[in-house]
Amino acid sequence: MFGQVGGASTGQSAATTRLRVRSVLTPRDHPLPVPNGWYGLVGSAQLGDRTVVSIRAVGRDLVAFRADDGAARVLDAHCPHAGAHMGGGWIEGDRLACPYHGWEYGGDGRCRHIPYHDGRVPERAAVRSYPVIEQDGFVWFWYHAGDAAPGWDVDPVPEVSDPDWTDAVVYESELVAALQEMGENNVDYAHFNYVHRAGKIPLLSSTFTVDGPRSRVVEVLGGGTTFTRDACGPGIAVLRVPDTMTMIAATTPIDRGNCRLRWHFHFPNAMQSMADDLVETVIGDYGLAADRPIWEHKVWPERPVLVKADAAIAEFRRWYAQFYEG
Ligand code: FES
Ligand SMILES: [Fe+2]
Repeated sequence: MFGQVGGASTGQSAATTRLRVRSVLTPRDHPLPVPNGWYGLVGSAQLGDRTVVSIRAVGRDLVAFRADDGAARVLDAHCPHAGAHMGGGWIEGDRLACPYHGWEYGGDGRCRHIPYHDGRVPERAAVRSYPVIEQDGFVWFWYHAGDAAPGWDVDPVPEVSDPDWTDAVVYESELVAALQEMGENNVDYAHFNYVHRAGKIPLLSSTFTVDGPRSRVVEVLGGGTTFTRDACGPGIAVLRVPDTMTMIAATTPIDRGNCRLRWHFHFPNAMQSMADDLVETVIGDYGLAADRPIWEHKVWPERPVLVKADAAIAEFRRWYAQFYEG
């Protein structure tokens, strides 16, 4: 999915690395719009020095770039001059230069320089820019349908920089589902018995609590294992099994009907030998792989018929409605 395009640039300044994240999925519509929130666009390691990444997310064509000052920026990809995709451009100081005629854009999306013009820059020479937080191995960007400022921050994950914990084991994938349908799965307790055959490890109790844009699921499983899932808006969740695993799940809409996953697994150093098995538990036949065919073929009923035991789903939907406001 992650491919190099063009290699070193032909721009006037030092070489620029160009990468493109290709989607394997067919674009897909869905009744639900893309929710507002922070999303993981790429891993910090993918966006190296003087690198431009072309990627489709939140139903838009985006470019991420790291200029000479080291900061990560995210812009809409198409240049307002004549519409070229700026992912083919090059880094010029703290700006991204468009490959078509060399116009240079700052991290705020404004054109700063037109190389063959009289020094003035037209007011409309600007693209949409997105607030960025780079933290814990991710380049997070803020998307709001109405372009409003971020409504909350991204919660830090202390395990990432703790020397007693491993570096990230990265799982990248795409799946056919609207983001809300994926999120809802975590409070759909009944499906665990059918889709994930959880009968082997009984779910003793589960609670769902909310606090503004954050929510928490706590599950107590047979054998005394506790599992928590802390969501920070619709696109970020941190899953923890104490002393065993912490996973940062970045789930980003490619468009309304498809998602891209970038999940970083961290383990206590003492658990390193178990890492492969633990990742498999999450993504394998009894985990994510079992959900995939359901999401791929389901529809979104406007008014689903829920019963008492589905109460957490209704609660989840009430919490989630805030991400479509504005
Ligand atoms: S299209 Fe971008 S500089 Fe002309
Ligand atoms: Fe599931």
